[in-house]
Amino acid sequence: MSERGETLAIAKGVSKSFDAGRIRVLDGVSLKVHAGEMIALWGASGSGKSTLLHLLGGLDVPDQGELTVCGLDPRSEAHRLELRRHRIGFVFQLHNLIPDLTVEENLRVPALAIGRTAQATRARIDALVEEVGLGPRLSHRIQDLSGGERQRTAICRALMNEPRLLLADEPTGSLDELTGATVFAWMKRLAEKHGVAVVLATHERRFAEACHRIVRVRDGRLEEIAG
Ligand SMILES: Nc1ncnc2c1ncn2[C@@H]1O[C@H](COP(=O)(O)OP(=O)(O)O)[C@@H](O)[C@H]1O
Ligand SMILES: [Mg+2]
Repeated sequence: MSERGETLAIAKGVSKSFDAGRIRVLDGVSLKVHAGEMIALWGASGSGKSTLLHLLGGLDVPDQGELTVCGLDPRSEAHRLELRRHRIGFVFQLHNLIPDLTVEENLRVPALAIGRTAQATRARIDALVEEVGLGPRLSHRIQDLSGGERQRTAICRALMNEPRLLLADEPTGSLDELTGATVFAWMKRLAEKHGVAVVLATHERRFAEACHRIVRVRDGRLEEIAG
């Protein structure tokens, strides 16, 4: 387990509702995320895991409460843009890669958004694909890859711009058991190697137990439980 480092994200009394307040999803939740740790957000379908990840990643804004992510305020549009470009990596249940493009072309997309040089982009891509064993697949199109290879590509894409925080929303949810376990292990290894904090939404107990902390999402609240 990594040493707990700097606090990267702080949520304090955060609430979020949908449908003009009729669907109350998060009811004054608080959470701290530290550098180097992997936290499981564990809860049933519909409990609010994705909602919380979206708030942490600047993809949505809270109705109430305080939120600071990598020293930025996700209520500001400029800060949300900075978060999405530089500070946060997102991995979704369905990879959300561009199917007609190759692995390499998909990995170039985030680098384009921050204007990284061709040489630095090349070096970053090579290092990441090497780590997850995707080197031989670099010029293959996403549509020709297996589910596990697609998710490994998606993890590399999320790490391209060297984020401090990796937000993963049921990244193994569409994979078979063995492939899911492999993808989880890669993500954990990369997180530890690159020193990023990971917040992993999952409904699977076995993945939650392999994280450093388990935070249960239930009835609009968070509860830290022993792993
Ligand atoms: N944009 C939205 N509009 C209306 N309801 C939403 C929206 N996003 C999520 N919800 C509702 O909020 C609840 C929590 O959803 P979600 O965060 O996706 O849960 P989980 O990821 O744990 O499955 C669900 O009842 C869902 O239907
Ligand atoms: Mg979800």
